[in-house]
Amino acid sequence: MQDFAGKVAVITGAASGIGRAIAEQCVALGVKTVLADVEQAALDQAGSDLQARGGTVLCVRTDVSKRADVEALADKAYAAFGQVHLLFNNAGIGAGGVAWEATWNDWEWAIGVNLWGVINGIKVFLPRMIAQQTECHVVNTSSGAGLIAGAGSAPYVTTKHAVVALSENLHLGLEQRKSPIKVSVLCPGTTRTNIAFSERNRPEELRNPEQPMTPERQAGLAALKSILEKSTPSEKVAEDVFDAIRKEQFYVLTDPRWMEMVQMRVERLLKLENPLDPTPAVIKLLGSQA
Ligand SMILES: NC(=O)c1ccc[n+]([C@@H]2O[C@H](COP(=O)([O-])OP(=O)(O)OC[C@H]3O[C@@H](n4cnc5c(N)ncnc54)[C@H](O)[C@@H]3O)[C@@H](O)[C@H]2O)c1
Repeated sequence: MQDFAGKVAVITGAASGIGRAIAEQCVALGVKTVLADVEQAALDQAGSDLQARGGTVLCVRTDVSKRADVEALADKAYAAFGQVHLLFNNAGIGAGGVAWEATWNDWEWAIGVNLWGVINGIKVFLPRMIAQQTECHVVNTSSGAGLIAGAGSAPYVTTKHAVVALSENLHLGLEQRKSPIKVSVLCPGTTRTNIAFSERNRPEELRNPEQPMTPERQAGLAALKSILEKSTPSEKVAEDVFDAIRKEQFYVLTDPRWMEMVQMRVERLLKLENPLDPTPAVIKLLGSQA
């Protein structure tokens, strides 16, 4: 896709971070933009900020883990604008630790938002986009953690790996049908967003029992916050996304240094060597940005 003015985009997780930066790009390019997010106040704020910049914007509160919400989102987007050309399945959360210690609620929440959110987006929007018979592009947000697995956050790496496989499958299926719909999978390295504060959106019924704020937990949160503060700005990630859409490029890796870790994984795999945890390399890499 080369011409964006007058096109219509739907972005999930649009109230913050990468989704919001994608929404800003859309408005700057003259795209009519549907913002979907579970966090009502942040969604309203994003909507009024983008309208103040001259954007044609529709805000729809949506929990992407709920099929009925995503169906209502599509109904409202099509009722308002008639077509959807750009779909960004972007909403995501971080939760949990190693697989056996992450709680059932951590697993359910992460699978609901990070994986069902993308499946719901595809199942609800793709049939309508196919029926349009226009050029379209779908961008699913995975992560660098969808290409290499570290020792932490099992629900996150599991769902993000699944989003890469799902996106490859979607791309191949559409190509096989000679569809004009293109697909990209976004695998950002660490990006300056509010993902460290994902708990703000955890539904009541999936909350974990209150954990005491131990010095270790405090130090862990502070370390994560300082890593994210030193990371790539979300605006740069959004620019990379639009470059990829223009080039019809499937894999979108926003930090070339992540490729070294992907290469290490693939080389070890092909030699049948056991996995290495990339986390120390990530921390070293981010430390060097300080
Ligand atoms: N920040 C990073 O370092 C990084 C790296 C790789 C991938 N990602 C991915 O980027 C995507 C965007 O995250 P971000 O980093 O911008 O974080 P963020 O917290 O700033 O933004 C995420 C948005 O998703 C929304 N959201 C959460 N649960 C939702 C739900 N059930 N339904 C609808 N919206 C929901 C939040 O309200 C928020 O506005 C996620 O998929 C995340 O996994 C982030």
